[in-house]
Amino acid sequence: MIDVRKLAEPGSIEETLLERIDLKRLPRHVAVIMDGNGRWARARNLPRVEGHRSGIASVREIVETAARLELGVITLYAFSVENWKRPRYEVATLMMLLKEYLRKELQTLMENNIRFTPIGRVDGLDPSVQRELRYAEEKTAENSGLLFQIALNYGGRAEIVDTCNRIMSILREKEMSDAVIDEDFFAGHLYTANVDDPDLLIRTSGELRVSNFLLWQIAYAEIHVTKVLWPDFRRRNLFEAIIDFQSRERRYGGVEGAEAEMFIEADDAASS
Ligand code: IPE
Ligand code: IPE
Ligand code: MG
Repeated sequence: MIDVRKLAEPGSIEETLLERIDLKRLPRHVAVIMDGNGRWARARNLPRVEGHRSGIASVREIVETAARLELGVITLYAFSVENWKRPRYEVATLMMLLKEYLRKELQTLMENNIRFTPIGRVDGLDPSVQRELRYAEEKTAENSGLLFQIALNYGGRAEIVDTCNRIMSILREKEMSDAVIDEDFFAGHLYTANVDDPDLLIRTSGELRVSNFLLWQIAYAEIHVTKVLWPDFRRRNLFEAIIDFQSRERRYGGVEGAEAEMFIEADDAASS
């Protein structure tokens, strides 16, 4: 049971927002492109890395909120395959902050029954980072609450290519090189095999692009873009994104509501 007292103080903005959310229709999987750390720092005349440092507080709050809302999955985009293009010092600081986060937060992840797993080309990360990731993954493996996926050295195209190669090697091994694969089989070999696709994709800091994130999985995600920069993104902003999500009509290529009923009536008339 969702404990709303743990999500909003009485009389707060969060409480007002929470009242507008239908807790029975929450997105099961929320994916977030955490963007705008650099701009947040620049606005304060600070080095870019200070934006990344401040962004950790947002990660903490959003992951905890997702757990308290009893969402199924949260996926945070933390480092793309393209982010290696950044200055060496910035990349090194990001990796250092990640290790620090994992060490400091493991206890909280355990207390909140959160299962942690990285997705991406993890073997391309520094061995010290891989060690911390593996440790956190193993420690939380038996937790049964929220699944927290962190995308690291992640690229949507890289994932699709890696999946193709994985499938080819399986088929070669089984001497089934003329097999025809379908969408379910393909999806079952992605980094996110066994994880439902995101229902809601949030991007902070206003950019209207997906930047190579979960290209396969976001086929029918509802997209919420906010101008809020990631270090300023808090529980109330997640609530706003969920309210926006719940105002959408998901059609999956079909027709909904009154129009769908008109078609059903027309079909009935035609068949009688
Ligand atoms: C997002 O913030 C964090 C990462 C990509 C690691 P940015 O660092 O991209 O911030 P902006 O877009 O330059 O403001
Ligand atoms: C996307 O943000 C990657 C992450 C959030 C990790 P970027 O800042 O790297 O994306 P672009 O360069 O604006 O497309
Ligand atoms: Mg950016």
